[in-house]
Amino acid sequence: MSGVRARFAGSGIAVPPRVIDNHRLARILDTGDSWIRERSGIVERRYVEAGVASSDLGAEAARAALAAARMEADEIDYIVCATMTPDQLFPGAGTMIQQKLGIRPIPALDIRQQCAGFAYGLQVVDALIRSGVARHVLLVGVDVHTCLMPFSERTWAVIEGRDEGPISPAEFAWNSRFRNLLVLFGDGAGAMVFRASEDDGSGRGILGSKLYGDGNHKEILTVPGLGSARRPFVTAEQIAAAETVPVMDGKKVFKLAVTLMPQAATDLLAEHGYTTADLDLLVMHQANLRINEAAQKALGLPDEKVHNNIQKYGNTTSATLPICFHEAREAGKAPEGALVAFAALGAGLHWGAVLLRV
Ligand code: UT7
Repeated sequence: MSGVRARFAGSGIAVPPRVIDNHRLARILDTGDSWIRERSGIVERRYVEAGVASSDLGAEAARAALAAARMEADEIDYIVCATMTPDQLFPGAGTMIQQKLGIRPIPALDIRQQCAGFAYGLQVVDALIRSGVARHVLLVGVDVHTCLMPFSERTWAVIEGRDEGPISPAEFAWNSRFRNLLVLFGDGAGAMVFRASEDDGSGRGILGSKLYGDGNHKEILTVPGLGSARRPFVTAEQIAAAETVPVMDGKKVFKLAVTLMPQAATDLLAEHGYTTADLDLLVMHQANLRINEAAQKALGLPDEKVHNNIQKYGNTTSATLPICFHEAREAGKAPEGALVAFAALGAGLHWGAVLLRV
């Protein structure tokens, strides 16, 4: 058991073709390109077409990851899917992805640690492979945030360019109520495939993780409605009161992220006998470029050892880590043998770091 590691075999992504820039959002709510860029670094994000669900995007990313790993879908013997936006309340998206890939019945595990979902997924993959429970694991991170956006048909028509607007002042005011959140998020999926490999002395594979959860911070990022704390779990009144839309105390989340992400990465490196100087690449959750700049500074890492792509995609929650890792690899920042740290923080509160030798 001790000699087997979860070795990275391939990655893939799926981002919707529709690009929504900041100027387009300024047509439907009270915001501006300069505010969004200055406060978050985001320039544009991707939105799915209505009817495209998390399992559709997730399966597309999985196919790309399998092709990169030169593996057939049927070689996979375990699926882990991280999403907070499954196709429906239940079942989760794991079996939807298994079905879409045409894989025989295998275990399909859904996890939902929001922005830290993929980091938790990496820990699960590590445990499954090291314990001998699975040999070829597909890990998918996907979120379709547009399903949470409280927009009318008319607003969607303006966003998608089918109607140049303007929308009514009442609708503009309604959309603007949620502007602190709506400008940040986009849709996307990323996947990574891992295979069990005897340690051949190269030290390659998932090395370890340091993850945390603390419900004391639940209120700083949450969806108040749509759950078992309500009976029934949703009513027309709750929808009218926007209780189906997430609420966020952005400043509190920001402060926790700039402290806890670098701390987890530093502690994890130390646990494995490394310092930040040994790190080849840090892949952080993409929630705000300013958070990541502060974390990079705290860790003393040069620009070439950090990759950010929030400018293009916004915050895609469970999908940020695999999309960012995939693009960093394409940019030559994580070749075979590179030491890569993943760090994330999100609703729950969930946070932590994972170490991978590519
Ligand atoms: O992945 C999940 C975890 N989430 C995060 O990590 C998010 C972390 N937090 C953040 O990224 C930032 O807190 C935000 C980008 C969400 C907000 O930035 P901020 O610098 O904390 O701004 P703020 O909330 O303090 O708002 C400053 C001003 C307010 O106006 P007043 O009260 O000063 O007049 C807001 O109403 O900016 C206003 N504002 C906006 N203006 C234009 C808030 N959202 C917008 C907007 N466009 N979209």
